[in-house]
Amino acid sequence: MSYEDLEARLAERTKQALLGGGQAAIDKQHERGKWTARERIDAFLDAGTFREMDRFVTHDCADFGMDKKKVYGDGVVTGYGRVDGRLVYLYAQDFTVFGGSLSGAYAKKICKIMDMAVRNGAPVIGLNDSGGARIQEGVKSLGGYADIFLRNVQASGVVPQLTAILGPCAGGAVYSPAITDFICMVAKTSFMFVTGPDVIKTVTHESVTKEELGGADTHCGISGVAQFSVPDEAAALALLRELLSYLPSNNMEEAPRRDSADPVDRLAESLDSLVPENPNKPYDVTDLIKAVADEGAFLEVASQYAGNVVVGFLRLGGRSVGVIANQPAHLAGVLDVNSSTKAARFVRFCDAFNIPLWVIEDVPGFLPGVEQEHGGIIKHGAKLLYAFAEATVPKITLITRKAYGGAYCVMNSKHIGADLNFAWPTAEIAVMGADGAVSIIFRRELAAAEDQESKREELVAAYKDKFANPYRAAELGYVDEILRPRDTRHRLIEAFDSLQNKRASNPPKKHGNIPL
Ligand code: HXC
Repeated sequence: MSYEDLEARLAERTKQALLGGGQAAIDKQHERGKWTARERIDAFLDAGTFREMDRFVTHDCADFGMDKKKVYGDGVVTGYGRVDGRLVYLYAQDFTVFGGSLSGAYAKKICKIMDMAVRNGAPVIGLNDSGGARIQEGVKSLGGYADIFLRNVQASGVVPQLTAILGPCAGGAVYSPAITDFICMVAKTSFMFVTGPDVIKTVTHESVTKEELGGADTHCGISGVAQFSVPDEAAALALLRELLSYLPSNNMEEAPRRDSADPVDRLAESLDSLVPENPNKPYDVTDLIKAVADEGAFLEVASQYAGNVVVGFLRLGGRSVGVIANQPAHLAGVLDVNSSTKAARFVRFCDAFNIPLWVIEDVPGFLPGVEQEHGGIIKHGAKLLYAFAEATVPKITLITRKAYGGAYCVMNSKHIGADLNFAWPTAEIAVMGADGAVSIIFRRELAAAEDQESKREELVAAYKDKFANPYRAAELGYVDEILRPRDTRHRLIEAFDSLQNKRASNPPKKHGNIPL
């Protein structure tokens, strides 16, 4: 065969491979409101950087007439490319081929790029759209899933793993995305569940739609399985690109610095009046984060879940920082089961990937109630405490207002290893609020007083004077410095600069035993 013929054969096979399940299946995919695997890859990567691997792989199943149904690529497109010039490995499940269902050969393709990603220190991106285990292959497919799960676990904390759910993701297939660091779901066209509506109907007699059971709003707002809900695929892919910009490529690197036109010494004057005079009035902590961040840019993570704590990424003087903030505008910023687990997981992600932590504290304590206690607030609150205490990245806390009780200790206090603790003059650092404190320690005096109301007011004022401020903590060295709010930006940038060569490590161990 001449070289021209050989090249023609390559071109012919390539053409077939690029068509996936064929034009009719592609049209159907578009009718479903979804893009094809290749369209997604093109939209996600820097133009012209995709290098496909295993384009001609096919399955080896002969059952159910499958030997006559072979499609190049076998339902998943894998390879590597660049995002903002940085290497990533990715796989995109191709729903046009056997519904994107996973065969043994398909799993091997995914495992191959995962192994390469870990070896070369680059993130793994999964674009999911699949009917699950390839039913014709049986246990071979299940084994393939488990091979992927093992790699997800081994890659965890080594390279970032990001997932977009762009169609179905059901059965045990959900566990690969669940182990990855962040999940983004597209509203209406994506869903995740372990057992679907039909099985649920049979077993528990509950009627539920796919969307209600496992759509984007459900997982971002109720279960906390996913962190980002977006309206369409373009938004999902753009979000993953943005997220990557805050992350290092692997656990041995720091996140890339991004130059900013925002002056490092910019005063944030709006902050001087952010905290209302009335301590029971809320304010929005995201206003603080945005006022301090480079160019006001803040990528909030899990914004629909446990709104009493805000977590996400920003840059300070070009440096990527993870913020964990109590949100007074939601449940007064109280810590509960869901906010504790949300924040703990975020802290551990940042620590694993060398992203410094900025904690903003305004917390009246842990949420009281039977539901919380029976829901395990003890063990879930302990997760957050554990996560902060074990984190060795630079850690800075800013107390804006309330730092009460156990929550004072948990929210990255000096005692559990924060490097620098700042407070605003509005800070109140105490065992509890003045009203509660007076009711307990002056119970007898109050009962004996002729005018109980004025006695209470007097005692509350005295308690506030003594404790509802940052000075007792500052006298003890628990707060390093009291900052004017408007100085927060440039002082934080300077502080993180001072911590950039921090060396800290925990005692050698196989791994700790975080209260799960
Ligand atoms: C083989 C599959 C398939 C699968 C879909 N297809 N799922 N082929 N194995 N798991 C095929 C269909 O036969 C069809 O082929 C094509 O893909 C498109 O599917 P449609 O049903 O036409 O699409 P749609 O109406 O959009 O429905 C999508 C779907 C549905 C909701 C995903 O196909 C479905 O319910 N599939 C079965 C899902 C399932 O039960 N999977 C196993 C779960 S258990 P043709 O040739 O007609 O175009 C599991 C365990 C994992 O995954 C365990 C891991 C440890």
